[in-house]
Amino acid sequence: MDDLTPTTAFRIADLEARQDEAVRIAEKRAVDRQHAKGKLTARERIGLLLDPGSFVELDQLARHRCGEFGMDANRPYGDGVVTGHGTVDGRQICVFSQDFTVFGGSMGEVSGEKVLKVMDLAMSLGCPVVGINDSGGARIQEGVVSLAYYAELGRRNAHASGVIPQISMIMGPCAGGAVYAPAITDFTVMVDETSHMFVTGPDVVHAVTGERVTAQELGGAAVQSEVAGNAHHRAADEQDAIEWVQTLLAYLPSNNLDPAPEYADDTSPVVTPADLELDRLVPDSPNQTYDMAELIFRLVDDGDFTEVHSAFAANMICAFGRVQGRTVGIVANQPRHQAGVLDIDASEKAARFVRFCDAFSIPLVTLADVPGYLPGSDQERGGIIRRGAKLIYAYSEATVPKVTVVVRKAYGGGYAVMGSKHLGADVCLAWPTAEIAVMGAEGAVQVLYRRELAELPPERRAAARRRLTEEYRKRHTGPYLAAERGYVDEVVTPSQTRLQVARALRTLRTKRQTLPAKKHGNIPL
Ligand code: HXC
Repeated sequence: MDDLTPTTAFRIADLEARQDEAVRIAEKRAVDRQHAKGKLTARERIGLLLDPGSFVELDQLARHRCGEFGMDANRPYGDGVVTGHGTVDGRQICVFSQDFTVFGGSMGEVSGEKVLKVMDLAMSLGCPVVGINDSGGARIQEGVVSLAYYAELGRRNAHASGVIPQISMIMGPCAGGAVYAPAITDFTVMVDETSHMFVTGPDVVHAVTGERVTAQELGGAAVQSEVAGNAHHRAADEQDAIEWVQTLLAYLPSNNLDPAPEYADDTSPVVTPADLELDRLVPDSPNQTYDMAELIFRLVDDGDFTEVHSAFAANMICAFGRVQGRTVGIVANQPRHQAGVLDIDASEKAARFVRFCDAFSIPLVTLADVPGYLPGSDQERGGIIRRGAKLIYAYSEATVPKVTVVVRKAYGGGYAVMGSKHLGADVCLAWPTAEIAVMGAEGAVQVLYRRELAELPPERRAAARRRLTEEYRKRHTGPYLAAERGYVDEVVTPSQTRLQVARALRTLRTKRQTLPAKKHGNIPL
């Protein structure tokens, strides 16, 4: 051995120095910069998300190869993204976490390679992938190469869709074309105040349109979760965002071939006092409302459920819960908001949720109380025909067990769409309070008896309308005409609902249904 050959001890020390630079030194700098902005570092986020000690990092020593704009003088390890795998509650996931303190977390060739590699790993392992976004988007210095990796990422997202759950966390900026990867993933959570998403930022908006708008007004968590519907949860802070993702993962299977995690069934096999409260849930007056969440609370194990998209289209509830220890997806009209009407946003929200549940073999429980589709030129011009059709399409192609409970109103298109037998519900239950009809009694009388009522002397019209409305309501708006035809399998007392739904889901565990083979359908978009 000559004097120039490094010793083993030297080589080990060299490795340790590189690791120290990649992790400890970089992290110290990152802590200072991120904490000053009220944000955690890429590594801190992974540390909170995963079970302690479970993280296995990949490509820690990867460095960019770009020589443009003096980049060769600055080649930090990791290249602005931390990638790897670990466990959440003992279950495997893959993760990538953009490091805003390195080139603004921007995606270049090497950081792109790292993200694609961990996505490919998730696909081959069959485990969820969580992407933590905090980035200025495509790395400007690397030009078209960075664009190529965004497109590659979109392709990975599309191929992984319906195979492994994909979750995006927006923990800082997410701008430009970079927004489309999270948009393709199944669930997106944003952090209040410190995150934003937009295709074009405030400066470009001002330059092009003259509009002055802040980043938060344009694409902050409030706007994206309440108005645009791009975020499924608006987290108060990063810890809240991480906990929401952990809760969500606990409901989901690791992939489309594995079942969702199953928990012990400690539910009561007999009617409980909480069940009995359901007999008083629907008010006597059709003009009075109630909270559908009260029914969900009493249907699911321990009253525990997690809403997705809770702030968006609040007239529709989409939530995960468990029935006898097994995950279900709940789709429910919320009469407290716009009487639970189906509008564009509610239809699209529910359609995507139904498709997610179907892709991952999660049974669907639908709770209907719906006055129909929302009338009006805003909705018609907005495309309620093609966008409302998505829900019909989604329910029709869903082959998972489908159990529906008609609670009160199921009028018109709303009846047909909200998990009706005709769209393939396996079990359809109705409460005695169900009103299944083409439309409400008042509207029906107005159409059917318009001429007769007009011909009456004005002083007799109100009484005649009341009598006809009552007659119509008795004959046409209960659950019994539908039950006579088998459109409703059973009319149940509300307090029996939990047990009946659980029984139906138990019966349906072995359900098998296949649709005609095809390349893919063409859902109206
Ligand atoms: C390279 C970037 C960068 C980028 C930020 N940085 N974005 N470097 N490429 N895209 C660097 C900055 O130069 C700076 O480096 C550091 O990150 C922090 O950025 P600041 O601007 O100081 O931070 P802040 O004030 O918080 O502003 C964050 C920001 C802003 C709003 C994200 O940086 C910004 O507007 N960046 C450009 C966004 C953009 O237009 N991206 C391209 C989108 S198009 P130093 O060395 O000073 O610390 C796209 C196409 C995808 O993504 C195509 C998909 C199909």
